[in-house]
Amino acid sequence: MPDPTLPPTHRALVLTSTSQPLEVRELPMYTPSLGSAIIRVTATSIITYAREVLTGVRKYDYPKPYVPGSAAVGRIVALGNDATTLRVGDLVLTDIWMHARDDPTQRCLHGVYQGGPNGTPVTRFVQDEDGWRHGSWAQYVKVPLENCYRVPDVIGAGVGALRAEPVHWLRLAQMVVPFGGLTGDGGVDLRPGESIVIAPATGAFSGSAVEVALAMGARVVALGRSEEGLRRLEDGLRAYVEAGRLRTIRMSEYADAESLKTAIGRVDCYLDISPHTAAGSFHFKACLLALGVRGRACLMGGIHDDIPIPHGAIYRNDLRITGKWMYERKAVFDMIKMAETGVLNLTRGESWSFGLEDWDAALIHAERHARWGQLTFFEP
Ligand SMILES: NC(=O)c1ccc[n+]([C@@H]2O[C@H](COP(=O)([O-])OP(=O)(O)OC[C@H]3O[C@@H](n4cnc5c(N)ncnc54)[C@H](OP(=O)(O)O)[C@@H]3O)[C@@H](O)[C@H]2O)c1
Repeated sequence: MPDPTLPPTHRALVLTSTSQPLEVRELPMYTPSLGSAIIRVTATSIITYAREVLTGVRKYDYPKPYVPGSAAVGRIVALGNDATTLRVGDLVLTDIWMHARDDPTQRCLHGVYQGGPNGTPVTRFVQDEDGWRHGSWAQYVKVPLENCYRVPDVIGAGVGALRAEPVHWLRLAQMVVPFGGLTGDGGVDLRPGESIVIAPATGAFSGSAVEVALAMGARVVALGRSEEGLRRLEDGLRAYVEAGRLRTIRMSEYADAESLKTAIGRVDCYLDISPHTAAGSFHFKACLLALGVRGRACLMGGIHDDIPIPHGAIYRNDLRITGKWMYERKAVFDMIKMAETGVLNLTRGESWSFGLEDWDAALIHAERHARWGQLTFFEP
């Protein structure tokens, strides 16, 4: 039954086909149902490659028409009766990483990609327009209860405490992605005091990996090709450079894997979060060779091609290599706690906000501001 306290319609950005532009439309209000929450969206992120997805350059399958989306921050306006701790009025961060309830191995990115295991579609999961089809680029979004995380009004503690703004939680949503590859839940299980090489390290997600690994107490070697990208990272995280905990390496200055490995030195862990264009890069081999005995590596990059690996070094050094798509639910709770205690700083970087009508400019802006610490978002 519709909730009479909610408006009958709301404004949303709708994609009908990747060969057609997005449109701002009035959509019917969602019906509150068991297991769901309806959120009035205050701010919602735009991933840097959203334009490629929405124009079909990246082949991300999704039932159409749909409202695209990403992480969102807002207040709960309606809840299923089975909610136990969440309340109407709570400030929440919504998470796009969804798992089918009858089969959690079927996973999708809400409003982005309906990919199932090995890329097989899980259409049933996101087909219902009053269910989970539509993402967050709208005034309201409906999400499963388990994709709603209550967040505090204040971040940091003691003299460092400050009022949290929506963009801080969107930054957390960006950071939790590489955190998945740093935890022991399928990632490298990074421990305080350990060293890690992160490659590449100058993109939005990969740069966040550097920041999170530093917050976890590690010493980081950050790889990149672009001098400007690496300088940006060093400038933004200057205190860690000065403390000797962050070192950058311009990998394009090296001729081969062996010389790059020597420049990296010996490390405990390696997190890779490369884009598909990096498939032929020798940094994979260099980073694996830099691992010591019982070193751990996690591959998170969007690479679909095969990459050569140094087999001899892997068995002789007892290396463990895992892959990780996103993160486990506990990682989000842990990151919120890290922000509350001030261990994780959510205030670095720069951000830009757009209205839904300015979607074209917003998507171009997000694509052109895809470095560490840069975040573009809608305020619907
Ligand atoms: N596993 C997951 O759950 C997950 C989640 C989200 C994203 N991803 C993947 O993570 C990837 C990285 O995301 P992002 O936002 O950090 O960055 P991105 O914008 O996709 O990629 C830019 C980064 O890649 C480097 N790069 C580009 N071409 C390269 C090449 N040929 N060789 C070596 N490095 C190259 C750039 O380095 P320079 O600018 O220094 O040249 C820059 O650091 C995405 O493409 C996505 O597929 C995975």
